[in-house]
Amino acid sequence: MRFRTLFTIVMSAAAMAAFAVEMPFIAGEKFPDTDGRHINAHGGGIMTKDGTYYWYGEHRGDGTPGSGQKGVALYTSDNLRDWTNRGIVLAMSDTEGDILEKGGIIERPKVLYCPNTGKYVMWFHHELKGRGYGAAHSAVAIADSPYGPFRLIESSRVNPGIMPENLDTEARNKTWAKDLEWWTPQWREAVGEGLFTIRDLEGGQMARDQGVFVDDDGKAYHIYSSEENLTLQIAELDPTYTRHTGRYVRLFPGGHNEAPAMFKHDGTYWLITSGCTGWDPNEARLMKAKNIFGPWEQLPNPCRGEKAEKTYLGQSTFVMNNDGRYTFMADVWNPKCLADSRHLWLPIEFEADGTPYINSPYNK
Ligand code: DGJ
Repeated sequence: MRFRTLFTIVMSAAAMAAFAVEMPFIAGEKFPDTDGRHINAHGGGIMTKDGTYYWYGEHRGDGTPGSGQKGVALYTSDNLRDWTNRGIVLAMSDTEGDILEKGGIIERPKVLYCPNTGKYVMWFHHELKGRGYGAAHSAVAIADSPYGPFRLIESSRVNPGIMPENLDTEARNKTWAKDLEWWTPQWREAVGEGLFTIRDLEGGQMARDQGVFVDDDGKAYHIYSSEENLTLQIAELDPTYTRHTGRYVRLFPGGHNEAPAMFKHDGTYWLITSGCTGWDPNEARLMKAKNIFGPWEQLPNPCRGEKAEKTYLGQSTFVMNNDGRYTFMADVWNPKCLADSRHLWLPIEFEADGTPYINSPYNK
């Protein structure tokens, strides 16, 4: 009897351990927090630390027309299903002239724990008040606790004065015809040869949609849409995760990729991105590489089934690695009420050759 009780306890504990951290399947329905309110954390990602899941994302107003972003929101969970609202952990400022002044834009925040410093490091896309999407800054903030408050330490373009590793330094002296018409073969060639990289060399590279990735060796990387959203760049971060080292590469020049979400599986780096159609959904893209600095190869759309050509109406934001099981996280944007944008959390499956794919939630 005693043995049977012990056996039952052990088996239930094992079952709970196996299922306690199962990632839920979310298919664009409302996702209520523990107060019953739809989770207002968009373009975000999840950091896992000591058995707690921290979901950081864009706060997008209170749902009433004209209500603005307050900053970066945090929700926490210990089972990935029940999420408690922990408030704003990086606040936009009410002070006129402050670089984080309300009216600016914060997008796609991602947080890393840095074991070398013991700090929590947040990277995000930052636009300055009154300048639309013109500033194209990447920004970094740090905190002593995952609950914040995060303090901004930098908001700027990336790697000023430094050439990417995979662009010939001769490109510096190249002159291109003035007023090249976009999307013409001549313009494409110029983009490939670094038209916008060189234009922005002095002030630093543009950085809009972005994500971060930590490799098995603890090195962190910043992946962002640069060069007028035409070309992705991957830049190495220093051991504090708060600065670029100056080592970076360009990916798919002229490929027009946004919403990068990187993960590694069985020694291969995978990148899921979207095309650039504002808030409207488009077809996801899949890229792979054996070395993070390339060469990178593009593969067909990883989404399958109904609405695959529109990424099930979503746009990638993050791939969650949950103990070797991967989940594609995406935003179903509602530009009329961004706070009500929905979440897609769909399992990533792998072909026998290791290629990831995602099944349609609408085929279930
Ligand atoms: C697409 C981006 O992925 C979003 O983060 C946001 O910047 C919208 N464009 C704005 O139109």
